Amino acid sequence: MPADRHRLLTASAQPGEPGPTGLAGPTGLQAIPARSVGLPADDVDRAVTAFMTASPVTRRWDVETGFDWAAADADRLTEGQRSAVRFITFIEDHLPGYFALYGSRFPLDSDVDVETFLLNREIYHFTVRWAQEEDSHARALFRYQVESGIARPAALRRELAEEGRKQFALPHEHPAALFAYTLVQEKATQIYYQNLRAVVCDPVLAEVLGRLSRDEARHFTFMADMVDLYLRRYGDAVVEPIREAIAQFRMPLADTLRGYWRWALRIADTAHYDHTEAYEHLVRVVRRAVDAPSDRVDELASFVRACRATDPTPSPVAPLSRS
Ligand SMILES: [Fe+2]
Ligand SMILES: [Fe+2]
Repeated sequence: MPADRHRLLTASAQPGEPGPTGLAGPTGLQAIPARSVGLPADDVDRAVTAFMTASPVTRRWDVETGFDWAAADADRLTEGQRSAVRFITFIEDHLPGYFALYGSRFPLDSDVDVETFLLNREIYHFTVRWAQEEDSHARALFRYQVESGIARPAALRRELAEEGRKQFALPHEHPAALFAYTLVQEKATQIYYQNLRAVVCDPVLAEVLGRLSRDEARHFTFMADMVDLYLRRYGDAVVEPIREAIAQFRMPLADTLRGYWRWALRIADTAHYDHTEAYEHLVRVVRRAVDAPSDRVDELASFVRACRATDPTPSPVAPLSRS
Protein backbone atom coordinates (compact mmCIF):
# COMPACT_ATOMS: atom_id res chain seq x y z
CA MET A 1 0.00 0.00 0.00
CA PRO A 2 1.46 3.42 -0.92
CA ALA A 3 2.46 5.56 2.02
CA ASP A 4 -0.09 8.32 1.32
CA ARG A 5 -2.81 5.70 1.08
CA HIS A 6 -1.80 4.34 4.45
CA ARG A 7 -1.94 7.79 6.00
CA LEU A 8 -5.42 8.23 4.63
CA LEU A 9 -6.62 5.14 6.39
CA THR A 10 -5.00 5.75 9.72
CA ALA A 11 -7.68 6.88 12.13
CA SER A 12 -6.92 10.07 13.97
CA ALA A 13 -7.44 8.68 17.48
CA GLN A 14 -4.86 6.41 19.05
CA PRO A 15 -5.79 3.38 21.12
CA GLY A 16 -7.32 4.47 24.40
CA GLU A 17 -7.78 8.09 23.36
CA PRO A 18 -11.27 9.47 23.64
CA GLY A 19 -12.97 9.66 20.27
CA PRO A 20 -15.17 12.45 18.95
CA THR A 21 -18.18 10.92 20.58
CA GLY A 22 -16.51 10.70 23.94
CA LEU A 23 -15.90 7.00 23.53
CA ALA A 24 -12.51 5.48 24.04
CA GLY A 25 -10.46 3.81 21.31
CA PRO A 26 -9.63 0.13 20.89
CA THR A 27 -8.71 -0.49 24.51
CA GLY A 28 -11.77 1.22 25.95
CA LEU A 29 -15.53 1.24 25.62
CA GLN A 30 -16.51 -0.07 22.20
CA ALA A 31 -20.08 1.15 21.82
CA ILE A 32 -21.03 3.47 18.99
CA PRO A 33 -23.96 5.81 19.57
CA ALA A 34 -27.15 4.64 17.92
CA ARG A 35 -27.70 6.01 14.43
CA SER A 36 -24.23 7.55 14.25
CA VAL A 37 -21.59 6.59 11.72
CA GLY A 38 -19.30 6.58 14.76
CA LEU A 39 -16.06 7.68 13.11
CA PRO A 40 -14.27 11.04 13.34
CA ALA A 41 -15.46 13.49 10.69
CA ASP A 42 -11.89 14.04 9.47
CA ASP A 43 -11.40 10.31 8.82
CA VAL A 44 -14.65 9.94 6.89
CA ASP A 45 -13.84 13.14 5.00
CA ARG A 46 -10.49 11.69 3.88
CA ALA A 47 -12.11 8.45 2.71
CA VAL A 48 -14.83 10.36 0.84
CA THR A 49 -12.26 12.68 -0.75
CA ALA A 50 -10.25 9.66 -1.93
CA PHE A 51 -13.43 8.23 -3.47
CA MET A 52 -14.26 11.48 -5.24
CA THR A 53 -10.66 11.87 -6.42
CA ALA A 54 -10.84 8.44 -8.04
CA SER A 55 -13.66 9.58 -10.31
CA PRO A 56 -12.83 13.06 -11.65
CA VAL A 57 -15.19 14.62 -14.18
CA THR A 58 -12.93 13.60 -17.06
CA ARG A 59 -13.31 9.91 -16.19
CA ARG A 60 -17.05 9.83 -15.59
CA TRP A 61 -19.58 8.56 -18.07
CA ASP A 62 -23.23 9.11 -18.72
CA VAL A 63 -26.00 6.92 -20.02
CA GLU A 64 -26.97 9.25 -22.86
CA THR A 65 -23.63 9.63 -24.62
CA GLY A 66 -21.49 6.79 -23.28
CA PHE A 67 -22.72 4.02 -25.54
CA ASP A 68 -23.72 3.32 -29.14
CA TRP A 69 -27.27 2.45 -28.23
CA ALA A 70 -28.42 2.10 -31.84
CA ALA A 71 -26.07 -0.89 -32.18
CA ALA A 72 -27.39 -2.72 -29.10
CA ASP A 73 -28.61 -6.13 -30.23
CA ALA A 74 -29.99 -8.80 -27.92
CA ASP A 75 -30.05 -11.29 -30.81
CA ARG A 76 -26.32 -11.66 -30.20
CA LEU A 77 -27.01 -12.93 -26.67
CA THR A 78 -28.01 -16.37 -25.48
CA GLU A 79 -31.28 -16.79 -23.62
CA GLY A 80 -29.30 -17.19 -20.39
CA GLN A 81 -27.41 -13.94 -20.99
CA ARG A 82 -30.63 -12.03 -21.65
CA SER A 83 -32.04 -13.45 -18.45
CA ALA A 84 -28.90 -12.46 -16.54
CA VAL A 85 -29.28 -8.86 -17.75
CA ARG A 86 -32.92 -8.80 -16.69
CA PHE A 87 -32.04 -10.19 -13.27
CA ILE A 88 -29.31 -7.67 -12.50
CA THR A 89 -31.54 -4.82 -13.69
CA PHE A 90 -33.92 -5.63 -10.82
CA ILE A 91 -31.02 -5.60 -8.38
CA GLU A 92 -29.62 -2.26 -9.56
CA ASP A 93 -33.06 -0.72 -9.91
CA HIS A 94 -33.72 -1.27 -6.22
CA LEU A 95 -31.48 1.70 -5.43
CA PRO A 96 -34.22 3.77 -3.70
CA GLY A 97 -34.44 0.99 -1.11
CA TYR A 98 -30.69 0.84 -0.55
CA PHE A 99 -30.38 4.62 -0.36
CA ALA A 100 -33.31 4.84 2.08
CA LEU A 101 -31.62 2.28 4.32
CA TYR A 102 -28.50 4.42 4.62
CA GLY A 103 -30.68 7.47 5.22
CA SER A 104 -32.54 5.81 8.06
CA ARG A 105 -29.41 4.24 9.54
CA PHE A 106 -27.49 7.55 9.55
CA PRO A 107 -30.26 10.17 9.79
CA LEU A 108 -29.88 13.86 9.11
CA ASP A 109 -32.73 15.56 10.87
CA SER A 110 -33.79 17.12 14.15
CA ASP A 111 -34.09 13.74 15.85
CA VAL A 112 -30.30 13.48 16.14
CA ASP A 113 -27.99 15.72 18.14
CA VAL A 114 -25.51 18.05 16.49
CA GLU A 115 -22.55 15.70 17.02
CA THR A 116 -24.33 12.80 15.34
CA PHE A 117 -25.57 15.03 12.52
CA LEU A 118 -22.06 16.33 11.97
CA LEU A 119 -20.63 12.82 11.54
CA ASN A 120 -23.53 11.52 9.46
CA ARG A 121 -23.28 14.53 7.19
CA GLU A 122 -19.81 13.34 6.15
CA ILE A 123 -21.00 9.90 5.08
CA TYR A 124 -23.89 11.51 3.20
CA HIS A 125 -21.35 13.15 0.86
CA PHE A 126 -20.49 9.62 -0.21
CA THR A 127 -23.96 8.08 -0.27
CA VAL A 128 -25.42 10.77 -2.48
CA ARG A 129 -22.66 10.36 -5.12
CA TRP A 130 -22.80 6.58 -4.78
CA ALA A 131 -26.56 6.68 -5.27
CA GLN A 132 -26.16 8.80 -8.38
CA GLU A 133 -23.76 6.25 -9.83
CA GLU A 134 -25.96 3.28 -8.92
CA ASP A 135 -28.94 5.05 -10.46
CA SER A 136 -26.91 5.38 -13.66
CA HIS A 137 -26.36 1.62 -13.55
CA ALA A 138 -30.10 1.05 -13.30
CA ARG A 139 -30.75 3.48 -16.17
CA ALA A 140 -28.02 2.00 -18.36
CA LEU A 141 -29.41 -1.52 -17.93
CA PHE A 142 -32.98 -0.31 -18.55
CA ARG A 143 -31.83 1.47 -21.69
CA TYR A 144 -29.91 -1.57 -22.87
CA GLN A 145 -32.95 -3.80 -22.43
CA VAL A 146 -35.11 -1.42 -24.43
CA GLU A 147 -32.62 -0.58 -27.20
CA SER A 148 -31.49 -4.18 -27.68
CA GLY A 149 -35.02 -5.53 -27.90
CA ILE A 150 -35.19 -7.46 -24.63
CA ALA A 151 -38.09 -5.43 -23.24
CA ARG A 152 -40.58 -2.70 -24.02
CA PRO A 153 -40.23 0.38 -21.82
CA ALA A 154 -43.76 0.56 -20.37
CA ALA A 155 -43.84 -3.11 -19.41
CA LEU A 156 -40.34 -3.02 -17.95
CA ARG A 157 -41.07 0.12 -15.94
CA ARG A 158 -44.09 -1.55 -14.39
CA GLU A 159 -42.22 -4.77 -13.63
CA LEU A 160 -39.43 -2.82 -11.93
CA ALA A 161 -41.92 -0.73 -9.96
CA GLU A 162 -43.67 -3.84 -8.63
CA GLU A 163 -40.40 -5.11 -7.18
CA GLY A 164 -38.91 -1.72 -6.40
CA ARG A 165 -41.65 -0.72 -3.96
CA LYS A 166 -40.85 -3.68 -1.70
CA GLN A 167 -38.87 -2.80 1.39
CA PHE A 168 -35.16 -3.56 1.60
CA ALA A 169 -34.00 -4.31 5.14
CA LEU A 170 -30.83 -5.55 6.82
CA PRO A 171 -30.50 -6.87 10.37
CA HIS A 172 -27.23 -5.14 11.16
CA GLU A 173 -27.10 -2.72 14.08
CA HIS A 174 -23.38 -2.04 14.03
CA PRO A 175 -22.31 0.35 11.26
CA ALA A 176 -19.16 -1.71 10.59
CA ALA A 177 -21.44 -4.66 9.78
CA LEU A 178 -23.42 -2.53 7.34
CA PHE A 179 -20.27 -1.41 5.54
CA ALA A 180 -18.88 -4.96 5.58
CA TYR A 181 -22.13 -6.22 4.03
CA THR A 182 -21.97 -3.57 1.31
CA LEU A 183 -18.28 -4.32 0.75
CA VAL A 184 -19.19 -7.93 -0.07
CA GLN A 185 -22.00 -6.79 -2.35
CA GLU A 186 -19.84 -4.35 -4.26
CA LYS A 187 -17.04 -6.87 -4.80
CA ALA A 188 -19.53 -9.59 -5.71
CA THR A 189 -21.19 -7.30 -8.25
CA GLN A 190 -17.86 -6.31 -9.74
CA ILE A 191 -16.85 -9.95 -10.18
CA TYR A 192 -20.23 -10.80 -11.68
CA TYR A 193 -20.04 -8.01 -14.28
CA GLN A 194 -16.51 -9.02 -15.22
CA ASN A 195 -17.58 -12.64 -15.68
CA LEU A 196 -20.66 -11.75 -17.72
CA ARG A 197 -18.67 -9.31 -19.85
CA ALA A 198 -16.22 -12.07 -20.72
CA VAL A 199 -18.92 -14.21 -22.38
CA VAL A 200 -21.35 -11.77 -24.08
CA CYS A 201 -21.10 -11.19 -27.83
CA ASP A 202 -22.85 -7.81 -28.01
CA PRO A 203 -20.09 -5.14 -27.82
CA VAL A 204 -22.57 -2.56 -26.52
CA LEU A 205 -23.44 -4.74 -23.55
CA ALA A 206 -19.75 -5.50 -23.00
CA GLU A 207 -19.06 -1.77 -22.86
CA VAL A 208 -21.89 -1.22 -20.37
CA LEU A 209 -20.68 -4.07 -18.15
CA GLY A 210 -17.13 -2.73 -18.29
CA ARG A 211 -18.24 0.69 -17.08
CA LEU A 212 -20.36 -0.80 -14.33
CA SER A 213 -17.65 -3.12 -13.06
CA ARG A 214 -15.15 -0.26 -12.80
CA ASP A 215 -17.66 1.73 -10.74
CA GLU A 216 -18.27 -1.25 -8.46
CA ALA A 217 -14.52 -1.59 -7.96
CA ARG A 218 -14.38 2.02 -6.68
CA HIS A 219 -17.39 1.41 -4.45
CA PHE A 220 -15.65 -1.63 -3.01
CA THR A 221 -12.52 0.42 -2.29
CA PHE A 222 -14.54 2.97 -0.35
CA MET A 223 -16.29 0.27 1.69
CA ALA A 224 -12.89 -1.31 2.38
CA ASP A 225 -11.64 2.06 3.62
CA MET A 226 -14.62 2.36 5.97
CA VAL A 227 -14.16 -1.14 7.41
CA ASP A 228 -10.48 -0.33 7.82
CA LEU A 229 -11.30 2.85 9.75
CA TYR A 230 -13.60 1.00 12.17
CA LEU A 231 -10.94 -1.60 12.84
CA ARG A 232 -8.24 0.99 13.42
CA ARG A 233 -10.45 2.99 15.77
CA TYR A 234 -12.28 0.26 17.67
CA GLY A 235 -9.81 -2.59 17.39
CA ASP A 236 -10.84 -6.16 16.83
CA ALA A 237 -14.07 -5.58 18.76
CA VAL A 238 -15.58 -4.88 15.35
CA VAL A 239 -14.50 -8.28 14.06
CA GLU A 240 -17.62 -9.83 15.62
CA PRO A 241 -20.08 -7.49 13.83
CA ILE A 242 -18.18 -8.23 10.61
CA ARG A 243 -18.49 -11.97 11.26
CA GLU A 244 -22.22 -11.47 11.82
CA ALA A 245 -22.55 -9.65 8.52
CA ILE A 246 -21.22 -12.78 6.80
CA ALA A 247 -23.15 -15.20 9.01
CA GLN A 248 -26.45 -13.43 8.26
CA PHE A 249 -25.60 -12.70 4.66
CA ARG A 250 -28.50 -12.64 2.24
CA MET A 251 -28.33 -11.53 -1.34
CA PRO A 252 -30.31 -8.31 -1.86
CA LEU A 253 -33.87 -9.03 -2.97
CA ALA A 254 -33.41 -12.75 -2.19
CA ASP A 255 -36.43 -12.50 0.09
CA THR A 256 -38.60 -10.24 -2.04
CA LEU A 257 -37.97 -10.70 -5.76
CA ARG A 258 -40.56 -13.02 -7.26
CA GLY A 259 -38.98 -16.36 -8.30
CA TYR A 260 -35.56 -15.24 -7.07
CA TRP A 261 -34.05 -18.64 -6.31
CA ARG A 262 -35.42 -20.39 -9.36
CA TRP A 263 -34.18 -17.54 -11.50
CA ALA A 264 -30.79 -17.45 -9.81
CA LEU A 265 -30.29 -21.17 -10.41
CA ARG A 266 -31.42 -20.89 -14.02
CA ILE A 267 -28.80 -18.33 -14.94
CA ALA A 268 -26.01 -19.85 -12.84
CA ASP A 269 -24.46 -21.50 -15.89
CA THR A 270 -24.44 -18.25 -17.82
CA ALA A 271 -22.67 -16.07 -15.35
CA HIS A 272 -21.66 -18.36 -12.60
CA TYR A 273 -20.06 -16.74 -9.71
CA ASP A 274 -19.50 -17.60 -6.11
CA HIS A 275 -20.44 -14.66 -3.90
CA THR A 276 -18.35 -16.16 -1.10
CA GLU A 277 -15.36 -15.21 -3.26
CA ALA A 278 -15.97 -11.68 -2.06
CA TYR A 279 -15.56 -12.78 1.58
CA GLU A 280 -11.85 -13.34 1.00
CA HIS A 281 -11.50 -9.69 0.04
CA LEU A 282 -13.13 -8.70 3.31
CA VAL A 283 -10.76 -10.87 5.33
CA ARG A 284 -7.82 -9.28 3.51
CA VAL A 285 -9.08 -5.83 4.54
CA VAL A 286 -9.36 -6.98 8.15
CA ARG A 287 -5.87 -8.48 8.20
CA ARG A 288 -4.38 -5.32 6.70
CA ALA A 289 -6.01 -3.11 9.33
CA VAL A 290 -5.19 -5.14 12.39
CA ASP A 291 -1.45 -4.80 13.06
CA ALA A 292 -0.99 -7.83 15.29
CA PRO A 293 -2.79 -11.03 14.32
CA SER A 294 -5.39 -11.82 16.96
CA ASP A 295 -7.47 -14.86 17.79
CA ARG A 296 -10.59 -13.01 16.70
CA VAL A 297 -9.17 -12.26 13.27
CA ASP A 298 -7.96 -15.83 12.89
CA GLU A 299 -11.40 -17.07 13.87
CA LEU A 300 -12.97 -14.78 11.27
CA ALA A 301 -10.65 -16.18 8.60
CA SER A 302 -11.52 -19.76 9.61
CA PHE A 303 -15.21 -18.90 9.61
CA VAL A 304 -14.97 -17.50 6.09
CA ARG A 305 -13.10 -20.57 4.89
CA ALA A 306 -15.87 -22.74 6.34
CA CYS A 307 -18.54 -20.58 4.65
CA ARG A 308 -16.76 -21.00 1.33
CA ALA A 309 -16.59 -24.73 1.71
CA THR A 310 -20.19 -25.33 2.74
CA ASP A 311 -22.35 -22.41 1.58
CA PRO A 312 -25.14 -23.98 -0.43
CA THR A 313 -26.60 -20.64 -1.50
CA PRO A 314 -26.99 -20.37 -5.23
CA SER A 315 -25.44 -17.05 -6.12
CA PRO A 316 -25.16 -16.59 -9.83
CA VAL A 317 -25.56 -12.89 -9.70
CA ALA A 318 -24.29 -10.29 -7.48
CA PRO A 319 -26.44 -7.63 -6.30
CA LEU A 320 -26.33 -4.24 -5.26
CA SER A 321 -24.65 -2.26 -5.29
CA ARG A 322 -26.14 -2.05 -3.47
CA SER A 323 -24.66 -2.64 -5.94
FE1 LIG B 1 -21.88 -0.31 -6.47
FE1 LIG C 1 -24.23 -0.92 -9.38
